[in-house]
Amino acid sequence: MASKGLAGGETELYEIDRDLSISVITEADTEDVLELLKRLFFKDEPLNTYVQLGECKELEKYCTKSIHEQSSFKAVNSRGEIVGVILNGMITKPQPGDEPPPKLADNCLHPKFRKIMAMMDYIDEQFDIFELYPDIDRFLDCKILSVDTRYRGMGIAGMLTDRTLDFATRNDIKLLHVLCTSQFSARVMEKMDFAEVYRLPYVDYRVDGEQVFDPAKPHVAVRILTKRLDK
Ligand SMILES: CC(C)(COP(=O)(O)OP(=O)(O)OC[C@H]1O[C@@H](n2cnc3c(N)ncnc32)[C@H](O)[C@@H]1OP(=O)(O)O)[C@@H](O)C(=O)NCCC(=O)NCCS
Repeated sequence: MASKGLAGGETELYEIDRDLSISVITEADTEDVLELLKRLFFKDEPLNTYVQLGECKELEKYCTKSIHEQSSFKAVNSRGEIVGVILNGMITKPQPGDEPPPKLADNCLHPKFRKIMAMMDYIDEQFDIFELYPDIDRFLDCKILSVDTRYRGMGIAGMLTDRTLDFATRNDIKLLHVLCTSQFSARVMEKMDFAEVYRLPYVDYRVDGEQVFDPAKPHVAVRILTKRLDK
């Protein structure tokens, strides 16, 4: 991949460097990953945009807490800039007698992020993946997917997902799970033969009768997509 193009706003021109490599994210990358996410994901993920999230330490923690598992990947250009990330974490089936996990919203002090966490809690109550796949006792969850605005539409999210699938296969993980708040991330997964197993249209998620999120089109629903690797 050697061709180069120009992208940028009125004040700066930025040379797109298509010489990309995909590699594992380590704890040493944490600050650089957060820098990318705070510049992009915190502002352009559809729900973050809708609520105008702003600074959010809780989301920073959510993004980085699984990095030590060495199952997350970055796309880096030849200048050493991170231009895309996929942050994954393992989730294991609760065992009989386990304490029920705390509600995500209960421990969240950030009022805007708390609204998003409350919807995640609602989805957790509606949809149990371990019920859908009774033979599965753990799965890899894609928690965050973010590509630099200047590098979108080039298939980078697919490359990061592909690397994740490869990691899962090598580690005998049989299921990948992605909760997509964005039509574009759902599209990425559809192109990689993931199947939709749950959908919540934003218009149907109401608290006290009021619709909570109404992000810009084409983002009309939260969707969970999965891919089995052993079938
Ligand atoms: C979702 C995201 C990671 C996809 O990354 P990507 O590398 O551009 O993915 P792809 O190149 O496979 O494109 C996926 C879809 O995005 C849309 N897209 C394409 N070019 C685009 C562009 N320049 N700008 C925005 N979206 C574009 C298209 O619908 C495309 O599907 P298509 O290939 O069938 O036309 C990226 O859009 C992003 O970072 N979005 C903001 C953060 C976010 O919403 N993350 C997901 C939350 S669940």
